[in-house]
Amino acid sequence: MNSPTAARMDRSSIRLAHRATQVPPSATAALDAHAKSLIADGVDVINLTSGEPSFPTVEPAARAAVSAITEDFTRYTAAAGIPELRAAVATYLNRHNTAYEAANVVVSAGAKQALQYAFTVLLEPGDEVLIPAPYWVSYPHLVSLAGGRPIEVHPAPGNGLKITPEQVRAALTPRTRVLLLNSPANPSGVVYSHDELSELAALAVEYDLTIVSDEICDHWVYGDAEFTSVAALSPDVAQRTITIGGVSKTFAMTGWRIGWTAAPVEVAKAIAAVQSHTASAPSSISQRAALGALTTDLDAELAKRRDELDERRKTTLQAIADIPGLSLDADPQGAFFVFANVSGTYGLQTEGRTIRTAADFAELLLSQANVAVVPGADFAAPDHVRISYTVPADRLAEALSRIARFTAALSPAA
Ligand SMILES: Cc1ncc(COP(=O)(O)O)c(C=O)c1O
Repeated sequence: MNSPTAARMDRSSIRLAHRATQVPPSATAALDAHAKSLIADGVDVINLTSGEPSFPTVEPAARAAVSAITEDFTRYTAAAGIPELRAAVATYLNRHNTAYEAANVVVSAGAKQALQYAFTVLLEPGDEVLIPAPYWVSYPHLVSLAGGRPIEVHPAPGNGLKITPEQVRAALTPRTRVLLLNSPANPSGVVYSHDELSELAALAVEYDLTIVSDEICDHWVYGDAEFTSVAALSPDVAQRTITIGGVSKTFAMTGWRIGWTAAPVEVAKAIAAVQSHTASAPSSISQRAALGALTTDLDAELAKRRDELDERRKTTLQAIADIPGLSLDADPQGAFFVFANVSGTYGLQTEGRTIRTAADFAELLLSQANVAVVPGADFAAPDHVRISYTVPADRLAEALSRIARFTAALSPAA
């Protein structure tokens, strides 16, 4: 039975702060929700919007979490995270030639919260953060919420959706404070080489910028591409870099919400202080789960998963190469996305609707072919759609043939 109070709760007399009105809900999450609600209604939608592999959480993590519960390891932990996990994260990161210790690491609720803390401790009002486009949807909002100004840095056409020092230099102002890097990148899947990152990092040193390096997809690198951790480039670079990472993507643990910052000790202390007054600490149970994942030898299992995703990536690339109207501006050697340019379908129509934008393409693909992809506008790439190849191989193959049939059925607008 509805109470009178419940009936009135769709109305509000509360005035929201400006900052709240500036933050739209995540477009990716909205699309994912739409696709899931269609699926719940019984529609056979194949959802290629998600940002997580379809694998189960690695087993040692699940086991460690169960033990944490049965042992009643269920209290607040130290604000920066349990010492064993901080040490394990440092060891884990150092396989990429960094020199972190436990004191450099703060564990938080996912890489997203780690980014939020990084910007909170770095930015004065109006400080500018250079964000290479196309970018992960949350970056500009995380910067704005911390009082900073997100500044998009667009790659030159024909440069494989990668920025170079030239574009960074052109975007610099006296207010530039942070250069954000994200390799492997969401949504483009590009992986910056050691030399490309060195050149960008050299600029940060020259102009005294802090680098925030989001390395959440460090495991997902294919073919002859190699992951480089920015803080491993040189001691000069390490002391101005905050490395962001977590267990979400590598260990299929997105729901456990464990990520981290690794940074010079003074910065780590500031981040831990912020966390102590906000989240207090991440979940004790999830921390134990992450510890289980990081301290078990999972190399063989993770390599198998990577090979599987690589197969799905190749299938997706081959299919897109064969679909007229779709093209690639970049070589996606990492993460789990192919970022397809759909501008070749502009001006074509289906059932009286003409495609003029990637958003039109995505909407019609969902309504007519039951395949959900994310249009690129919120990634600052309005002619692209992001295709996640994380779904099981048979569903991926079916989705790709649906996309092929959908585009083949498009006809020139009258
Ligand atoms: C580039 C990038 N950074 C950070 C995150 C957030 O990771 P987490 O789930 O650990 O908060 C995501 C998740 O989609 C991402 O794609």
